[in-house]
Amino acid sequence: MKPFINNIDDIMELLDSQVESISWNDFYELRNHPANFIIQKELPDENLVEFFDKGIPKKSCIEFGCGEGRNAIYMAKQGTTVTAIDSSEIAIQNAKDLAHEKSVSVNFLCQDALKGSTYGLYDFAYDSGMFHHLAPHRRLTYIELLKTILKPSGYFGLVCFAWGEDCADEVDDWEFYQQRERVGVAFTKERLIELFTPYFEVIEIRKYRNGVPDTIQGLDFMWTCLFKNRIEIEH
Ligand SMILES: C[S@@+](CC[C@H](N)C(=O)[O-])C[C@H]1O[C@@H](n2cnc3c(N)ncnc32)[C@H](O)[C@@H]1O
Repeated sequence: MKPFINNIDDIMELLDSQVESISWNDFYELRNHPANFIIQKELPDENLVEFFDKGIPKKSCIEFGCGEGRNAIYMAKQGTTVTAIDSSEIAIQNAKDLAHEKSVSVNFLCQDALKGSTYGLYDFAYDSGMFHHLAPHRRLTYIELLKTILKPSGYFGLVCFAWGEDCADEVDDWEFYQQRERVGVAFTKERLIELFTPYFEVIEIRKYRNGVPDTIQGLDFMWTCLFKNRIEIEH
């Protein structure tokens, strides 16, 4: 780490150094968590299927924290050109293998989603379970990234832990940096609105629905959100 703070990037790096992140490679290798997205790894999110059925623009999509590729592969099967990013080599290799098995093409990238800057422009950005693992200061980086990669009137879909469901860390941003163990941050609906509405219009925020056939089950402790870029297409 640099010895002195000269700019905002240095502050961000300093804060990064205060936060131990989850070892996702270990998580995928050990497979010792009964996480639904590991067990039902070929099924997409029900809200994603609904977004697509309702006709959101979807020629091109970028997915952050794609894991083993279940949602990226679903989107590619619908004819969407998909770039899907995850920082775990094991998850990306498994995702590539699954896409190959299903004969679909996805541009899988193994990298820290927040470090890439040349992703291009997309109709739709999707994140099922990465955002809630980011440290509070990195949420700012994330929102800046979203602003640069979403087309005017483009959509952003998010699935994240819901506050009050006893599923994740119910902490404010000050408490986050004091924690020793972290599961992921739970959000209230109000906090999600506060974070995203300066740049994105809320189309929908609701709880995940179980029971929809051919979609992953057991995520009803999550929010599903659909936002739309406030920057509109010029006519
Ligand atoms: C809870 S898992 C969800 C996986 C997948 N979206 C799913 O639902 O099947 C979170 C994923 O985010 C990835 N991740 C966390 N932080 C990341 C970052 N900064 N850049 C890229 N991927 C990240 C992890 O490797 C992990 O695969």
